[in-house]
Amino acid sequence: MRVLGIESSCDELACAILHEDGSHLLSSVVHSQVELHALFGGVVPEVASRDHVRRLGPVFNECLQKAQTTIEDIDAIAVTAGPGLIGSLLCGVEFAKGLAVATHKPLLGVHHLEGHLAAAFLETPQPEVPFVALLVSGGHTSLIRVEDLGGTYTHLGATRDDAAGEAFDKTAKLLGLGYPGGARIDKLAKTGDAKRFEFPKMMAGKDNLDFSFSGLKTAAARVIKEHGGPPQGQDLNDFCAGFQTAVVENLLKKAFRAMQKQDIPRLVLAGGVAANSQLRERAQARARREGVEVFLPSRANCTDNAGMIARAGWTRLCRGERSGLDLVARAHWPLFEARTS
Ligand code: KG4
Ligand code: ZN
Repeated sequence: MRVLGIESSCDELACAILHEDGSHLLSSVVHSQVELHALFGGVVPEVASRDHVRRLGPVFNECLQKAQTTIEDIDAIAVTAGPGLIGSLLCGVEFAKGLAVATHKPLLGVHHLEGHLAAAFLETPQPEVPFVALLVSGGHTSLIRVEDLGGTYTHLGATRDDAAGEAFDKTAKLLGLGYPGGARIDKLAKTGDAKRFEFPKMMAGKDNLDFSFSGLKTAAARVIKEHGGPPQGQDLNDFCAGFQTAVVENLLKKAFRAMQKQDIPRLVLAGGVAANSQLRERAQARARREGVEVFLPSRANCTDNAGMIARAGWTRLCRGERSGLDLVARAHWPLFEARTS
C-alpha cells in the first residue's frame, strides 16, 4: 500500500510518500520553521499554525513531484492526529480530511510517538520484535517495550520532570545558543573536554527505569553563575561536552538496564534527541561490547518528518484500520491509548 504521510504537530511541516513495500520512501519533504521561531526563543503556536496553513499546499505538491507521482497513485493518507500543538495539528488533520473526501482514499490518524517508533523501520536491517525503545524527543523521554508497531506497547519508564530534549533546549537558552539548542550543543561538544565542568549523575544509583533532568538543568545554571556568565570559546565547548555526557550516560544506563530486565537484546533509538552524535556513538559502542543490537534511524528520520508517520500508518492501514471523517486532532493523547479514531 502506497501511503502519503502528513506531519504538522509542532513547528515542522512535512509530507512524505512511502513505497508500497513499507520500507522505503519515494519522497520526503520537511519545511522547518526554526528561523521563524528563533526570533522568539521558542515555538509560538499561533505563528506555527499560520505558517502551516501557508505551506501545506506547496509542500504537498513538492512531495508528489519529487516522487514523480500523482495523488491518484496514492492508496491511503496517514496524518499525525496528536499529541502536539492543537492549532498545528488541526492544519494537517483538516488538510488530510479534505484530500480524503476529494479523492475517496482511506484516511488514518497516527499517534506522533508511534511515528517516531516506526522510523527505525525505514532503515535496513529492520528491528525484530519485541524490542526496547528509548524515545527521546523535545516533549517525551520514555522507555517502551514494543511487541508490535500497531499499538502493543508496555511502559517501562519515563522522565519524572523535563524531557531530554527540553533539558538540551533550556540549557542552550541559558548559554545564549538560541532555540532549539540540542543540535548546537551536539556540535560544540565535539571539541570539548567533558571532564572540565562537573555535572551530577542523575538517579544513576536507583534501580528503576525512570529519568530526571531537572537537577541537571539547575546544575547547568549554577555552573554558568559560578563561571560569571555563559562560557565562551573553548570553555563553552567544554561545558557542552560535560552537559551532553551527563544526559547521554543517564539515558544509556537506563536503556541498557531496561534491555537486561526485559531480557530483550534489541534497542531502538527514536525521537529528535536520537540524532545526537554522542548518544549514537556510545549506544553502538556499548551494544558491541555487550553483544546486543542497537537500531538507529538516520538523523533526518529521528527529528520530526512525515516518512515516519506514513510508516506507522502503513502498519495499521495494512491491517484494515481506518479513521472516519470525524477524526479529531488531540493535543493530549497517551501513547498507550493509541487507536485510530
Ligand atoms: O522529535 P523532535 O524533532 O520533536 C518533538 O517531537 O519534540 O525532537 C526535537 C528535540 C529538540 O529538543 C531538539 O533540541 C532535540 O530534539 N535535538 C537534539 C539534536 N537534534 C535535535 N538533541 C541533541 N542532539 C541533537 N543532535
Ligand atoms: Zn517528534
